Amino acid sequence: MTVAASASRAAEILSRPVSLGGLTVPNRIAMAPMTRMFSPGGVPGEDVVSYYARRAAAGVGLIVTEGTYVGHESAGQSDRVPRFHGEEQLAGWAKVAEAVHAAGGTIVPQLWHIGMVRNQGEPPVADAPAVGPSGLRLGATEPTGKAMTQADIDAVIGAFAEAAAAAERIGFDGVELHGAHGYLLDQFLWEGTNRRTDAYGGDRVARAKLSEEIVAAVRETVSADFPIIFRYSQWKQEAYRARLAETPEELESILTPLAAAGVDAFHASTRRYWVPEFEDSDLNLAGWTKKLTGKPAITVGSVGLDGGDFLKSFQGEGAEVGDLDNLLDRFERDEFDMVAVGRALLQDPQWARKVLDGRFDELAPYDAAAALKTLS
Ligand SMILES: Cc1cc2nc3c(=O)[nH]c(=O)nc-3n(C[C@H](O)[C@H](O)[C@H](O)COP(=O)(O)O)c2cc1C
Repeated sequence: MTVAASASRAAEILSRPVSLGGLTVPNRIAMAPMTRMFSPGGVPGEDVVSYYARRAAAGVGLIVTEGTYVGHESAGQSDRVPRFHGEEQLAGWAKVAEAVHAAGGTIVPQLWHIGMVRNQGEPPVADAPAVGPSGLRLGATEPTGKAMTQADIDAVIGAFAEAAAAAERIGFDGVELHGAHGYLLDQFLWEGTNRRTDAYGGDRVARAKLSEEIVAAVRETVSADFPIIFRYSQWKQEAYRARLAETPEELESILTPLAAAGVDAFHASTRRYWVPEFEDSDLNLAGWTKKLTGKPAITVGSVGLDGGDFLKSFQGEGAEVGDLDNLLDRFERDEFDMVAVGRALLQDPQWARKVLDGRFDELAPYDAAAALKTLS
């Protein structure tokens, strides 16, 4: 296929609208959630409004915001990461949602609790302990934090539900629950950090119980057609090779209760979207997620990181690399429903527009230093 043919195929496939629960997203491109520290006091200001609005105006169909803390004293540890509670903070977020809508996009906040990753003494609540399923940091054998009591669990569930209610009230299009990368919900899902012997620990189904209860509480709090996206990963921030599930059956045992509790779409976080998840199948993690749950799935991982990736497929290196034709083939097989793009969209706010217009020749090679400048 020529570059021009590939570009027009990308434009055609990625321009199709898609439904996630009750939400219609105008095209298949999502912005992946990326933590930023530009919100002093947890309040997103005008610069945050324009950061997201620019990308929506340039064709991103669905923005998943940077992780934003739910209203629990131990949820975070930075005073510059935005919070999703408090009057001033929510007023700031309302302006973000309004501007994204005015630009033609849709937007969900990524609701976040970091759990045991927190260091005590840090803001926003300095004396709040780090909390987690067993008070264990990933890889540790001795607790350094607090094993959550039932009261702590109830408080966290309530904080997620309140944040979701706020999201609906101030005009967001849905919520994404951050169940990935080694933070609180993933600390429960992962056997290495969850040693509980009560109903929240044990097999995979028990370890998924906190996530399941949060989904159910959110579902009960928001309107029936207000979408809940659940993001999860096999890998963790501090353990790229960790796996929650070694087989499709194991994965199914985690995802089925979450889908039943009210998840409308899953966001399966992988670092490279073209890597098959299990043996004997080419399906990636999002592909398996959709197949096992019947829910829409969002894929992610190294899309568009190098302008050269687009060209490699024309030089016969096809399936081994993350070229866009590989992605489009998977879309055509209905393996997943949307693609999230992270770093490429940091570097080039116009990335989605160029791809949707078939202007591959204007895509610049990825430059990490330039991209990451937008984050600090
Ligand atoms: C700077 C940075 C911050 C990130 N912060 C978050 C986050 O807050 N929540 C999350 O779920 N993933 C986060 N991620 C992961 C991204 O959402 C995405 O999955 C990852 O970057 C792979 O996509 P990409 O290859 O298109 O960049 C972050 C990634 C980067 C590079």
